[in-house]
Amino acid sequence: MNEEEKSKSPGRAIDRRDFLQGLAGVPVIGAFALAALKQESFRRASRARQAAATAGGEAPAELRIALLGVGAQGSVLLNSMLKIPGLRFQAVCDIWTEYNLKRAGNLLKKYGHEAALYHDYREMLDKEKGLDAVVIATPDFWHADHTIACLQAGLHVYCEKEMSNTLEGARRMVQAARESGKLLQIGHQRRSNPRYIFCRDTLLQELQLIGRPVTAFGQWNRSAAPDLGWPKKYEIPADQLRRYGYDSMAQFCNWRWYKKLGGGPIVDLGSHQIDIFSWFLGANPKSVQASGGTDYYDKSTHEWYDTVLATYEYETPAGLVRAHYKTQTTNGSLGYFEQFMGDQGTLVISESAGMGLVYREKANAPSWDEWVRKGYLTEPKLIEVKAESESDSLDVRETISPDEHRIALQFNDPYHKPHLENFFSAVRGKGKLNCPAEVGYESAVAVLKVNEAVEARKTLDFSPEEFKI
Ligand SMILES: NC(=O)c1ccc[n+]([C@@H]2O[C@H](COP(=O)([O-])OP(=O)(O)OC[C@H]3O[C@@H](n4cnc5c(N)ncnc54)[C@H](O)[C@@H]3O)[C@@H](O)[C@H]2O)c1
Repeated sequence: MNEEEKSKSPGRAIDRRDFLQGLAGVPVIGAFALAALKQESFRRASRARQAAATAGGEAPAELRIALLGVGAQGSVLLNSMLKIPGLRFQAVCDIWTEYNLKRAGNLLKKYGHEAALYHDYREMLDKEKGLDAVVIATPDFWHADHTIACLQAGLHVYCEKEMSNTLEGARRMVQAARESGKLLQIGHQRRSNPRYIFCRDTLLQELQLIGRPVTAFGQWNRSAAPDLGWPKKYEIPADQLRRYGYDSMAQFCNWRWYKKLGGGPIVDLGSHQIDIFSWFLGANPKSVQASGGTDYYDKSTHEWYDTVLATYEYETPAGLVRAHYKTQTTNGSLGYFEQFMGDQGTLVISESAGMGLVYREKANAPSWDEWVRKGYLTEPKLIEVKAESESDSLDVRETISPDEHRIALQFNDPYHKPHLENFFSAVRGKGKLNCPAEVGYESAVAVLKVNEAVEARKTLDFSPEEFKI
């Protein structure tokens, strides 16, 4: 690109080599780059092989891993980890011994891992020597105790979001990580997703594609669904359930809805996307107002709100941005995505692989042809505004419709794999965590206040000190 072209480009101009270098590990990109990417990957692989050989071995030393909690999400993480080389599964712990624990043990056996099985984490930590790291996917109210015990036992920890259902618990986790000197990664996996990184670092920050951000929106809509059930023959005895904080099997399976165990949909689902607001906007919120309630389900079994609408204000380097977030568990229309709107365009991004669009504000934005030519975006799809009047002329009430482009970068790996890979690389001393304890804490501060704001029925302010420990 010559100087003139650079000066016409929005934001700092990036060339093809910068772009490729910025996409380390990205699996599929536009066809234009494939040949160059292959060469670059080949060079990178050779360098990695040389470094390994110099260090005295071909493959990285195996990391010895324990899993704590292998329900729905623990199984998803386990399946992702089975695709990551260099991991040895040494132990698994879960209180549902006859069901989830056995199933995980059998799966691991199929893949050649003889893991020791435990129902109590303290026993596992006492008996298992030589572990490097533990991956925790128990219900939110257990995260603080589990994480702190593992850190104090000298293990690096990957703990699922929400970091904790209380700020006090999250704070203790940050402190324990600092005192132990071990790594603590929180499972906000979008922070390692190549498409999210590309959208934030390249499209928004480098190219300034949407111009000055003005508002943001996010939603997670889910269809109405019955409570989760369980196979009766695998019921956990009541005294054992009580020992681990559950009043009944129904509560054990549907812990998300209970105030002492989880945080409801705004925490369960919203935490992922409210985290993206702060990450993409480069600021923590300065206030939040919210409305919500259990409008549809039975309040005695759904203590947390099934519907929540929240509005944040962010003081960003570019100016004030208002961000609206909505979650409802009674209608699944349009699923889940985040949307960032600026005076020159809009970005719509979702973890869901099919969604990733940008819209150019034809009235204000410079041409995006260069980004199409370079393969960052697909050709524009022109959105026709059809006039409905008989004369076929445009109704003056219609605004100029934007051009729609797809983000060319595709990502088809399991969602959690890059975040787990980032954790294991950091454990090996290569690179930094993408969501360390302090970042997980900031996100928890922003999210947990929504439930407070619903209760208070007024705008609540954040002070900058609230985000620090
Ligand atoms: N990052 C994501 O996209 C994502 C998605 C879903 C869930 N999650 C998080 O993962 C965690 C687990 O959620 P889930 O949907 O798998 O719940 P789940 O109820 O399906 O699984 C929880 C598992 O933990 C076990 N368990 C409960 N208490 C325990 C204890 N004290 N000791 C050992 N084992 C215990 C249960 O027997 C069960 O197997 C939650 O923190 C949730 O927020 C994250």
